[in-house]
Amino acid sequence: MGLWRPSLLFSLCASTWAFTTPTNAPTYPHQLKARGTDGIATVETSKTLSLKNQINYDSDFTLSPIPLVSTTSEWAALISHADAIEKLHLKDLLQDPERSELLHTEHDGIFLDYSRQRVTAETLDLLESLASKQQLREKMDAMFRGDKINFTEKRAVLHTALRARLEDPRRPFVDGQDTVEEVHQVLEKVRDFSEAVRFGSITGYTGKQLRNVVSVGIGGSYLGPEFLHECLKTEPEGMNSALGYTLRFLSNVDPVDVERTCSELDPEETLVIIVSKTFTTAETMLNARTMRQWLWDFMGNDPDVVRKHIVACASTSATDKVRDFGIDTDNRFFQFWDWVGGRYSVCSSVGAVPISLIYGFDLFQKVLNGARNMDRHFLSAPLRENIPMIMGLIGVWNTSFLKYKMRTTLPYAEALLRLPAHIQQLDMESNGKHVTRSGQDVDYDVGEVDFGEPGTNGQHSFFQLLHMGQPVPCDFIGFIKSQHDLMVDGEKLSSHDELMSNFFAQPDALANGKNADTLRKEGVPEWQIPHRTFHGNRPSMSLLLPKLTAYRVGQIIALYEHRTAVQGFVWDLNSFDQWGVELGKKLAADVKEKLAVGRSGGQIKCDNPSSTRLLNHYVKFCEENDDDERGESLFKEGKKEKFAVQWPKGQNAFSKQPPATHHLKDHGKML
Ligand code: F6P
Repeated sequence: MGLWRPSLLFSLCASTWAFTTPTNAPTYPHQLKARGTDGIATVETSKTLSLKNQINYDSDFTLSPIPLVSTTSEWAALISHADAIEKLHLKDLLQDPERSELLHTEHDGIFLDYSRQRVTAETLDLLESLASKQQLREKMDAMFRGDKINFTEKRAVLHTALRARLEDPRRPFVDGQDTVEEVHQVLEKVRDFSEAVRFGSITGYTGKQLRNVVSVGIGGSYLGPEFLHECLKTEPEGMNSALGYTLRFLSNVDPVDVERTCSELDPEETLVIIVSKTFTTAETMLNARTMRQWLWDFMGNDPDVVRKHIVACASTSATDKVRDFGIDTDNRFFQFWDWVGGRYSVCSSVGAVPISLIYGFDLFQKVLNGARNMDRHFLSAPLRENIPMIMGLIGVWNTSFLKYKMRTTLPYAEALLRLPAHIQQLDMESNGKHVTRSGQDVDYDVGEVDFGEPGTNGQHSFFQLLHMGQPVPCDFIGFIKSQHDLMVDGEKLSSHDELMSNFFAQPDALANGKNADTLRKEGVPEWQIPHRTFHGNRPSMSLLLPKLTAYRVGQIIALYEHRTAVQGFVWDLNSFDQWGVELGKKLAADVKEKLAVGRSGGQIKCDNPSSTRLLNHYVKFCEENDDDERGESLFKEGKKEKFAVQWPKGQNAFSKQPPATHHLKDHGKML
C-alpha cells in the first residue's frame, strides 16, 4: 500500500489549469482542489486510478492561458541582476575564496565546479526563487509519479521507471499498469535472449553463431545506444565481454550508410535489431526492409530467416506492425512503452538489447544502476547540492538572462565522443520550442544550440571562436582516471595527465583571458596586440568524475536528461513532445510521390517554381548523364536493375562468398 497506484489523487502540475466538463462527457465523482493562487490543481476521484487515464484530455479539461514566467517578479529580479553581473569580470570573481567555496558541489564522487559561471551567491538565490515560483519540485514529482505531463501526446514521461527497482516502494502506474513490473519483465527477456545468443544456444538460420549485430534506428533510437557503445568499447570489462562481437549502427537512409554498415559482415552471423518506437519512421523502415532483403539474398527468401535474424525494439502499440514485418513477436520482440520518449529511451530495450548482446546483460545493468543513483540524487538532494538542478538553472540563466544562444559539451575523454550528439538531440528536440504549455508564444529566449567535440580535438578546431569570437558557455567533462592510461618512456606525465592539463587550463583561459598589458610585458609587438588579446569573461563549468565505467555512464545519461527537464520546467515548456519534426516528414512524403512521377517520365510540379525546377533538374540530370557508375547500373538495365543494391567484392573472411552484386529478385516488391 506504499505504492502510488492506490492513491486516488490525480495531480496535474500546471499552476492554473482549468477543468471544464462538457455536457456529453462522462462525469466522475471528483472535486477540484487548489493549493494557493498558483498551486497545483488536484482532482480527487473516488474511482481507481485507471479511471484517471480514461479522462480524455481534450474533452474533459482545457488549459487556460497562464501568465508567462517573464511577467513574474522573480524573472524581473533576475533581469536587473543580469545588468549587475554584466559589470563583473570572471577574472575578478574567481579570486574570491568564499565564492569559490560556494560554487561547487559533489555527489557520489562526481564533482561539479561552477565557479567559472557568471554567477554569484545572489544569482543562486534568485534562481532558486524562480525555480520555486515555477514549481520545479512539483513538476519533477509529477514526472516521476507518471502523470501525463506530455499532455499534447497524452503520455506520461517515465524514463525514470526504466531503471527503478521492483523493491521500490513508490512505483508509478500508467493506465492501471505497474510500469516497473513491465520494465523488469522485458529486462528478463533481454537477459535470457542475449545470454542465449552469447552462449550459442540461439544461432542463425544456417546454424552459425550470431556475432555481428546491426542496430537499425534513427534519432533517439540510435544516438543514445551509440553513445553508450562508444563508452563501453574501451571500458576494461566491456572490452573483454565484447571480444569476438561487433556492433554497428545503421541510421541514415543514405544507401551509402547501408554499404558502410554491411561491408565485410557475414549475413549468416548477423543479427539485425530494428529499433523504432513507432515502427513507422520512414528512414528506419526502408533500412529495415533493405537489411531484410540483404539477409534473404544470402540465405534464401524464407520467413524463418527473418524470424532468426531480425528482432525488434518498439513500443507495445506497434506490435501489429512488428508482426507484419515477419518478426517473431513472442520471442524476438522487446517492447517499450509510449511513456518513454525516443530521446529518453536509451535505458529501455532500445539500449538494453544491442548493449547486452555485445557486452553482456550485467554490464547494461550497471548502466541502469548509475542512472538510478542519479534519479535519486535529483529527487532528493537540496537545490544547492543537486547537480542536474544547478546545471539546468545555469542553463536558464545563461540563455534567458545573459543571452547566450549556444552551449558546447566538451568531454575530455575519447570514449564520450558521441555524448555531444546525444545531448544535441536530447536538449534541442526537447526545448527547441516557441510556446509555453498553454500555447502562448514565449517572449524570452529558450533552448540553446548544443554542439561539441571531445577535447583536445575541439581545441584545434572551433576553440578559436570560443576564445575570441562569439562567447559560448562550455561544459567541460573530465575523469580522474583514464580507462587506459599510458606512460611513455622519458615522459614526466602520463598521457592522461597531458589530456587533463588541457581540461584544467581551458576554463581558466576562457574566464581570465589575456589583456594588452600582459602581452606588452611579454614583448608582443604593438601592432599584434589587438589580434592576440583575449577578453575573457567566458563562462564554463567543469564536471570531474572518477573514471568512465558503465555505472558512471548511467549517471551521465540521467544527469543530462534531468538537466533538460529542469530547463523545460522553469521555462514552462512541454519538453517531451516534438511536433517540430512533423512538417519535414510530411513534405518528404509528398516529394517522394512527386519523384515517382518524375521517375516514370512525368513532369514534376510543386507548389513553388524553385522546388519544381530543382526536382526536375535532379531527375533529368540522372537521365541525361550516365557517365557515373550509379547512372550506369541504375538506368541501363531496366526497372528491376534500377534499384539494384551493390555489394562489395572480395569479402574473403566469409566461408560462403557473398555474391558481388545483389538484386531484389522476387522480393523487390517488398522494398
Ligand atoms: O525525429 C523525430 C523522432 O520522432 C525522434 O523523436 C525519435 O527519436 C526518432 O524520430 C525515431 O523515432 P522512432 O523510434 O519512432 O523510429
